[in-house]
Amino acid sequence: MSRADERPQDCANGCDVGEQVRSLASEVEQAVSEAMAAALPTELADQDPLVRRSGHADFQSNIALSIARKAGQKPHDLAGQLRSRLAEVPWMKSVELSGPGFLNITLADTAIVNQLVQRSEQAKLGVQEGQRDQVVTVDYSAPNIAKEMHVGHLRSTLIGDALVRVLGFLGAEVIRQNHVGDWGTQFGMLIQYIFEHPEEGWRNTEVDQDGHEDATSAPDALYRAARAEFDADEAFKERAQRRVVALQSGDEETVTAWHDIVEESAAAFQKIYDRLGVLLDENDLAGESRYNPLLDDVVEELQRKGIVEESDGALVVFFDDILGPSGDRVPLLVRKRDGGYGYGATDLATIRYRLQDLKATRALYVVDARQAQHFDMIFRVARRAGWLTGQDVEHVQFGTVLGSDGKPFKTRSGGTVKLADLLDDALRRAREIVTEKEPDISAADLEDIAETASVGAVKYAELSTVRTKDYAFDVDRMVSFNGATGVYLQYMHTRIKSIQRKAVETGVGEARFDAGLALEPQERALSLLIDEFADTLEVVAKTLEPHRLAGYLYGLARAFSEFYEACPVLKADSDEVRASRLALCELTARTLAQGLDLLGTTAPERM
Ligand code: ARG
Repeated sequence: MSRADERPQDCANGCDVGEQVRSLASEVEQAVSEAMAAALPTELADQDPLVRRSGHADFQSNIALSIARKAGQKPHDLAGQLRSRLAEVPWMKSVELSGPGFLNITLADTAIVNQLVQRSEQAKLGVQEGQRDQVVTVDYSAPNIAKEMHVGHLRSTLIGDALVRVLGFLGAEVIRQNHVGDWGTQFGMLIQYIFEHPEEGWRNTEVDQDGHEDATSAPDALYRAARAEFDADEAFKERAQRRVVALQSGDEETVTAWHDIVEESAAAFQKIYDRLGVLLDENDLAGESRYNPLLDDVVEELQRKGIVEESDGALVVFFDDILGPSGDRVPLLVRKRDGGYGYGATDLATIRYRLQDLKATRALYVVDARQAQHFDMIFRVARRAGWLTGQDVEHVQFGTVLGSDGKPFKTRSGGTVKLADLLDDALRRAREIVTEKEPDISAADLEDIAETASVGAVKYAELSTVRTKDYAFDVDRMVSFNGATGVYLQYMHTRIKSIQRKAVETGVGEARFDAGLALEPQERALSLLIDEFADTLEVVAKTLEPHRLAGYLYGLARAFSEFYEACPVLKADSDEVRASRLALCELTARTLAQGLDLLGTTAPERM
């Protein structure tokens, strides 16, 4: 376990986060609410003022249309009343009534520029650390020891890491928990097999054609060999079962072998994490075996509280409304007939530990949607046991990764697709694309860029997808320079950086906002979007949906490209306009880089 006090986004020099800068959108909301309070009875005035960005003005409010009938007024009349109040707000340039009762609100240019000045002066771009009172455990990645990490674990790893970063940036104390599958009867089989086949190497030694050491393959091969013998040979099966008992009772040579297997596998996972640039490391390992010493006590507590019951010699928990296909109640299995504990008991001990010992105010489980029923049961038991009182526990579910055939992603022979192979695929494709765009690039630069671009591409493809949906893994689309891709966002960042470099080289590098200048429509659009950064992060923290940040960043990159097409920066008409546009470039680049960082992606200077 590690506390996220090494939050990478924290200002390195300890500089000030500064005060919260409320977004212009929320200021407008408040102004409309105040106008409502003056014009309407309290119960109506308390409603959401329905302020949205608009194509006709900066913002629009449809509130008059929505509540006129309840207020016993004509929408147009009510809108007129609100308008006359809003007309007095000094930082609004105009408030127009349109159609049957829409309010179109345009802000004063100075208000927008001043807002940008405030954001740009702060290390966190005006983002408030609103999560300071939260302790959040994030259970993510969680691959199984001696098995290949698969695309499902990739989803968990990337979504979990983005949430860790966003919540940490907003001030929460984040505790990463990598709940690896490092315990269970399969280890009897694995260890017994190793002892009986000392000549067979099972450690990772291979290096693939791209120079990456092969991850987990060797323990995975061990698993398959041991499984085959277990299924085919009754005598081996019995020896393997005795080995489980030896492991559980702490027999020294057995435990040492178990440690070796876990270490070897965990090291292979770490290579993938490092390659992906995710925050997880060995301090975050909190696998199933950690909870083993707690299981007796947890079960004893549940027995004492009358929550578990006996069924066929096993200990289970029933829920009146969790029924199987035939209408029977589906139990959560707590202890098997043979006295052994499984996944269910372990997760009960886990949740108790996180809520009571780690004092989580929010416990997140970033796990495949297919485990929804399991977590539903665990959370209910935790509530019955009195561990879960006011805290927020959530199963942060995600869908399945599909192949191009629309079926769950598998190799041609039906096996699990190795994560390392996928990343290698993306890397090769990125190399081709970068070479196409820049045929004269040096080999070293090419490698650098292709690695950054391919990892960014895979991450962005994942994180821009609605979490709960299935999605198809399509390397060609991921690594494209066009459309909503990681490569496009990284590329836009490098374009802004190159404008800034050119400005410095030609001696016109001064960047300064000027509240006295009028804004072009594209400058307004870009500015208002920059201002939405903090609100977007709040939404991600609430919904646990990183795609909202991914989508926001794509919108920001597009708004920049429209701005840059319409508004000359280096060739601006005056020094003031150039300096102000350079300031806008700088703030866009910072926002983009910060956002990409929160998605776990680097924003390169060149590409
Ligand atoms: N190891 C499990 C799997 O691969 C995921 C564990 C998720 N976390 C938990 N607390 N159950 O499916």
